Amino acid sequence: MHIPLLYFNIFLALPRLTISRPTWPEANAGDIRSLQGLTRLTRDRSGKRGDPVDKYFHESTFHSHYDGRFAESVLPDTERRDALSSLLRTYLSTMSTIGAETWIMHGSLLGWWWNRKIMPWDSDVDVQVSETSIQFLASYYNMTVHHFNIPGPPGSEEQAGRNYLLEVNPHWKDGSTEDYLNVIDARWIDMSTGLFIDITALRRNKHAESNGLDGHMMCKDKHVYMAKDIFPLRDSVFEGSPVKVPYSYAQLLEEEYGKEALTATEFEGHVFVQQSMEWTPKKGKKAGS
Ligand SMILES: *[C@@H]1O[C@H](CO)[C@@H](O)[C@H](O)[C@H]1NC(C)=O
Repeated sequence: MHIPLLYFNIFLALPRLTISRPTWPEANAGDIRSLQGLTRLTRDRSGKRGDPVDKYFHESTFHSHYDGRFAESVLPDTERRDALSSLLRTYLSTMSTIGAETWIMHGSLLGWWWNRKIMPWDSDVDVQVSETSIQFLASYYNMTVHHFNIPGPPGSEEQAGRNYLLEVNPHWKDGSTEDYLNVIDARWIDMSTGLFIDITALRRNKHAESNGLDGHMMCKDKHVYMAKDIFPLRDSVFEGSPVKVPYSYAQLLEEEYGKEALTATEFEGHVFVQQSMEWTPKKGKKAGS
């Protein structure tokens, strides 16, 4: 059964997208055998065998930011950066089209703070969604494949476009921080490179509520927030795409990375050049190395 739904993308930079929900054989749902035709790999390089049985998402054996069902090696720096940017833009546009509330956090928010871009040394993107949105994604969009007219990496067969998979962790319902194997609630996965975006749901902090405290929020990764620091979300732009950022972004960044992270112009072998508003590799260093 194929249910192709056509959507007209509202962002000009990203041509039309198609959503389809392939038939997943239930017995091996989500594993490489059920992805036949959607992955060019036959050998699963997810670290599944070494992972505890209760862990839902498996990072690859070669790098924790790649999905081993879709990739066998890390990408060269420039390709990784392009792939990450596309990953982010396709994610934001899809969430906006289907009406799921999402915003950027952690390293992505820090990159946004500096120049509205992913930092050149980053190998992931961090986003959060509201509790209503994770429920919505789990109910209607789990394992949907989204096609974009973005050519695959140079030399790959996917020149006609790439597919992105939205996969929701069934353990999202268990909001306890004891479920430390499943702190990632969902993933947006580039099926041609294996790179992915970790999606975590911001939940009401039931523990705080039971102590009579209002407005306390949490994620399963143990980050805690005050609702008033996240909401109302602000509208901005990230990697050229419309994005939402938490209300008290500067305060949140300071709490997570320290004051210096917002002012120090040297980081990870890069210098921030005010004139160009870009992180550029220090002399004698190769970009991203
Ligand atoms: C999403 O689909 C996969 C594959 O069928 C399944 O293993 C997983 O439990 C589903 N997640 C949710 C939230 O239903």
